Amino acid sequence: MRILVTGGTGYIGSHTVLALLDAGYDVLIADNYVNSKPEALRRICKLAGQDVPFALCDLRSEAETFKLFAENTDIEAVIHFAGLKAVGESVHEPLLYFDNNLKSTLNLLKAMQEYGVHSFVFSSSATVYGDPASLPIREDAALHVASPYGRTKLMIEDILRDVAHADPALRVSILRYFNPVGAHPSGMIGEDPNGIPNNLMPFIAQVAVGKLDYLPVYGDDYDTPDGTGVRDYIHVCDLAEGHVSALKALTAPGVYTFNLGTGHGYSVLDIVHAYETACGHAIPYAIKPRRSGDIAACFADPAHAREGLHWEATRGLADMCKDSWNFQHNNPDGYSND
Ligand SMILES: NC(=O)c1ccc[n+]([C@@H]2O[C@H](COP(=O)([O-])OP(=O)(O)OC[C@H]3O[C@@H](n4cnc5c(N)ncnc54)[C@H](O)[C@@H]3O)[C@@H](O)[C@H]2O)c1
Repeated sequence: MRILVTGGTGYIGSHTVLALLDAGYDVLIADNYVNSKPEALRRICKLAGQDVPFALCDLRSEAETFKLFAENTDIEAVIHFAGLKAVGESVHEPLLYFDNNLKSTLNLLKAMQEYGVHSFVFSSSATVYGDPASLPIREDAALHVASPYGRTKLMIEDILRDVAHADPALRVSILRYFNPVGAHPSGMIGEDPNGIPNNLMPFIAQVAVGKLDYLPVYGDDYDTPDGTGVRDYIHVCDLAEGHVSALKALTAPGVYTFNLGTGHGYSVLDIVHAYETACGHAIPYAIKPRRSGDIAACFADPAHAREGLHWEATRGLADMCKDSWNFQHNNPDGYSND
């Protein structure tokens, strides 16, 4: 069974490609390298011990997307990671985000309809829950978004529900990720952000390796055990395995929605201290005022994924930090640009 993995050279996609190959699936990666590099593909192939088929394709182009399906008639399912994901950038460039994230999804759904592909797994995000009314967050919680990025996720979820309503053959799994962190235990693939990282763990990793001076901690007066923000961090390899489980569970038409998180909340300072243990030295940090739009705490109720996907995260915070550090330490400047 061949799986089209869009965005398969990106952070989560690259780990998922390896998990799919491990589980015996054939894979075709499609990416335009807008936020990834050919070096990621070379490393995926090295780790997999095989040439993994790749198509350079900008999914914003309907013609390129249809050509992809025309040339690969054995595609049986799509896992759709491709998208832009920087919340702050989306506030300044909303049209870029609506154009890229919505157009690529619409083109894929049209091509799937044309070529009779009925299974679709979508990368959504816990950002669709906004500031949750209660914790842990269940899939039936109210949905609110605070950024154009978040709105693209919610709009795509709505589009998928409408398209599936009209197409009785379509099977859709919407996966709402909490905070993916860590890297493959080989230290060969991991998160390789462009410029200053937007997310906490890659930021800490760059402080740990000496590329950044210190970590700004935005707010220590939240209603949390140590006053810093609490999030549900999930090891990217657990997340990757969650996609294999989602694909296996997609046996009947309909739309199925799952949180992919651990159910445990860790504060910013918990992460700093765990990372200090992993890298063996102190991480300098400085407390700063709260950032507007940040919330105190967010963590998943993972029960629905446990029951519906027979999947749960098994890796803990120590593994997340150890594997992140291993990748950062081995690749202080990320992937090469060749
Ligand atoms: N990393 C997170 O914290 C997080 C959390 C929740 C949801 N998500 C979602 O998961 C998905 C994957 O995230 P990631 O962290 O691996 O991001 P990433 O940027 O590392 O990977 C996305 C990949 O998609 C590709 N891409 C983007 N637009 C494209 C287009 N028009 N055509 C072809 N390829 C295109 C990029 O080049 C990149 O390789 C994204 O949809 C993201 O919004 C990520």
